[in-house]
Amino acid sequence: MAASGHELEKRADGKGGPLLRLENLVKIYDTGALKVMGLHKLSLEINRGEFVAIMGHSGSGKSTLMNILGCLDRPTLGHYYLDGQDTAGLTSDELSDIRNRKIGFVFQSFNLISRTSALKNVELPMTYARVPKARRRARAQELLTRVGLGARMDHMPNEMSGGQRQRVAIARALANQPPLILADEPTGNLDTASSIEIMELFRQLHEEGATVVVVTHEEDIAAFADRILRFGDGKLLSDEINRNHPWTRKKEEADAD
Ligand SMILES: Nc1ncnc2c1ncn2[C@@H]1O[C@H](COP(=O)(O)OP(=O)(O)OP(=O)(O)O)[C@@H](O)[C@H]1O
Ligand SMILES: [Mg+2]
Repeated sequence: MAASGHELEKRADGKGGPLLRLENLVKIYDTGALKVMGLHKLSLEINRGEFVAIMGHSGSGKSTLMNILGCLDRPTLGHYYLDGQDTAGLTSDELSDIRNRKIGFVFQSFNLISRTSALKNVELPMTYARVPKARRRARAQELLTRVGLGARMDHMPNEMSGGQRQRVAIARALANQPPLILADEPTGNLDTASSIEIMELFRQLHEEGATVVVVTHEEDIAAFADRILRFGDGKLLSDEINRNHPWTRKKEEADAD
């Protein structure tokens, strides 16, 4: 895939400023008898083109945050500005429109449509966006080739390995050239080699200008990002620049030999 998608997007809306901005965001899950705090007064900015990893123990609020960033859920209180726009006042239709145009979401469990070819899975978001058939087919082929599945376009998800399924899911997330890619434990179901391939793919997308946010439990996976946010009990505990990229480590090891 050419880098032009993200580049054009950046130029078109080159307003500067953060792509994502959270202001005193609170998420409370109301389960009837019990109210559970998902996020507690979170303020945070993520700039265009950043590559961010989110870490934290189970139940610390990572998925809650990703679902809000991805417009899959709404905050209870506070504001979420995406690309300068306050999402609070938007209708469900407006939110799904934003989701389709601006956000590519990658899930731990791939969420592909079964008994449907890789090609058709990748075409789907473009169908929703009313991209003409010939164009969406060509783009789906280009994206699948890009993620290394050029020879497997007609395969069904159950005929593919976990790593291959996740690459289909990433191709699908890229279909409408979103400036923002969100991934919630994308390597959670993968072996180490496939996990590294997936993270290298995210790294390339970041280098082409996409903003990438990845949730992970593993330090080695977070090490691919440039900034690491750590959560605990719905609060941001730390926000650090990562100086421990795997390629930096490899170079240091080579230099030491
Ligand atoms: N739909 C829901 N209804 C009620 N409570 C919820 C719901 N979703 C999440 N929670 C609660 O909100 C808190 C944060 O959950 P969240 O799923 O964001 O954690 P997480 O950091 O993604 O954890 P994990 O690493 O296990 O995926 C937890 O206490 C959880 O029980
Ligand atoms: Mg989670």
